[in-house]
Amino acid sequence: MTNKIALITGASRGLGRNMALHLAKRGVHIIGTYRSSEEEAQSLKQEIEALGGKAVMLPLDITDVTSFQAFLNAVIETLTADFGRKHFDFLVNNAGNGLFSNFVDATQEQFTSLINTHLQGPIFLTQKLLPFIADGGRILNVSSGFVRFTLPGYSIYAAVKAAVEVLTRYMAVEFGSRQIRVNAIAPGAIETDFGGGAVRDNNDVNAWVAQGIALGRVGLPDDVGGAVAAILSDDMAWANGTTFDISGGQLL
Ligand SMILES: NC(=O)c1ccc[n+]([C@@H]2O[C@H](COP(=O)([O-])OP(=O)(O)OC[C@H]3O[C@@H](n4cnc5c(N)ncnc54)[C@H](OP(=O)(O)O)[C@@H]3O)[C@@H](O)[C@H]2O)c1
Repeated sequence: MTNKIALITGASRGLGRNMALHLAKRGVHIIGTYRSSEEEAQSLKQEIEALGGKAVMLPLDITDVTSFQAFLNAVIETLTADFGRKHFDFLVNNAGNGLFSNFVDATQEQFTSLINTHLQGPIFLTQKLLPFIADGGRILNVSSGFVRFTLPGYSIYAAVKAAVEVLTRYMAVEFGSRQIRVNAIAPGAIETDFGGGAVRDNNDVNAWVAQGIALGRVGLPDDVGGAVAAILSDDMAWANGTTFDISGGQLL
């Protein structure tokens, strides 16, 4: 994977940050995005450089489709100036957060926010970036274990993530002629800032979730970052249009 370039949205914190570190350890250069956590993004860049890698951090609000042309221009400029290339190899549509709301209380604003973040953004960002993804490249969308199992309060979030899994299959079909593989991951509960960080910071929640996972603990960012590096590797090149459950066996 040496000298490949991965563009990861939402690389400043949590899973995206960890994916970037695992890929950088395998020699992949990183174009990471942040929305509000510029300091964290810059510290990730330094961490990658300390590993001997190369990283550039760009601002992006995945809900703001009107900003995508300017973002694309920044990506093209980065590819040329920092990497001497016209294309990148891996796109990871990761940015976003969860939203807890019981079905009866859910508002249209919450619905729109989830749709814009997890569906509209990845669709139109991918559309913009597609000509700049190398033939034979990879796209990885981030779904959620909530598509397979249910927990009250996540109906709309899970329904939107389900759409991401369907989209993944259609993208795989439409991009196959360019040998671009499109897959998704569905992580179970992972200790990040997701959902206000409850799974990580609240011992009771952590223990309750852990008893539903076959391996007896909740996931850590490294559990996902390593899996993503493996899925993007050539060893997994025959996997296409599928969703990988990365949950340690949650609620089987
Ligand atoms: N953690 C879990 O248990 C879990 C399980 C299944 C799926 N997921 C999915 O995994 C992905 C990453 O979640 P995480 O756990 O890493 O969450 P996180 O720790 O809260 O990190 C979220 C990342 O997404 C960025 N982001 C949030 N809203 C954004 C927006 N509107 N535009 C651009 N960037 C935005 C944040 O950037 P800034 O901080 O710079 O704003 C941050 O880098 C999400 O798609 C989430 O749905 C998480």
